Amino acid sequence: MTSVDRNPFRAGLLEGRTILITGGGTGLGRSMALKCASAGAKIAVVGRREEPLKATVADLEKMGARADFATCDVRDSASVRSAFNKVEEGLGPVNALINNAAGNFLCASEDLSDNAFDAVVKIVLYGTFNCTRELGQRLIERKATGDVLAIVTSYATTGSAFVLPSAAAKAGVLAMMRSLAVEWATYGIRLNAIAPGPFKTEGAFSRLMVGELEKQALKRVPSRRFGDHDELTNLVAYMLSDASPYQTGDCVTIDGAEGIFSGQQFAGFAHLDRTAAKEMMSAVKPKK
Ligand code: HXC
Repeated sequence: MTSVDRNPFRAGLLEGRTILITGGGTGLGRSMALKCASAGAKIAVVGRREEPLKATVADLEKMGARADFATCDVRDSASVRSAFNKVEEGLGPVNALINNAAGNFLCASEDLSDNAFDAVVKIVLYGTFNCTRELGQRLIERKATGDVLAIVTSYATTGSAFVLPSAAAKAGVLAMMRSLAVEWATYGIRLNAIAPGPFKTEGAFSRLMVGELEKQALKRVPSRRFGDHDELTNLVAYMLSDASPYQTGDCVTIDGAEGIFSGQQFAGFAHLDRTAAKEMMSAVKPKK
């Protein structure tokens, strides 16, 4: 396996982009902020907690990037509007959005309270709608083109046991991106999604990969490793760039083939020593 190229793009690939990233103070959102800034974008990070947002902006400024933050609860459309107003004052008009903020926890669905279901669906589905509508309205008003990217998960299309609110909300987000890709094409607004498999972050792994689950998850990836943040953020930068203007309404999976592994009847052979696997297969081959 070759190692990931951490800086494969020409300087200035994302020049002219002002990208607002929800949940941009920590985890994958922070990694996306750093990558897009290194490709020349201006960056606005929003989230509920000021401290990680400030720290991320300080790191972006150390790189020489233009950056700002606003505290914001994406569940609240008024809070989203003020966040856009605040960062646009400092950075100028936002023309790209990464819907990255998410909420999730493991819970048997029969035990979910009203509030528990609400908390996740409101962050993921309503939050994505609030931010996407806010950017859409601003772009349409200014007669400007722009890009929206939603970070879903590989289970947005299959569903997933024990994370039902997240699975239902992510499926809704995917439908939202695909619906708007058609509806807003006339305004020159592109909408796409990325469906990552497991990429290590404190937020997701502390809530989801409890006990044996991390080991089990690793076993489902044919290469037996989780994704590297740069692999995901390289894809993000590409999908927000002018390299792919015809790509819209799309969802790109990046999971090391984890998703299809589970659906392939004989995939287990891929985890065996190849000589042992061949011996097992030839044992059932008819003798001549
Ligand atoms: C059951 C739970 C629960 C749990 C919270 N609740 N955690 N119920 N099991 N583990 C219930 C609470 O009891 C409460 O209901 C309701 O949910 C709201 O909880 P609050 O803590 O008041 O809400 P809030 O502070 O808004 O927190 C939202 C959150 C939290 C979603 C619950 O986890 C959060 O802020 N998460 C953000 C970060 C995150 O989750 N990152 C991971 C995303 S990873 P009651 O009835 O008691 O009032 C991801 C990708 C998956 O999505 C890919 C995997 C490989």
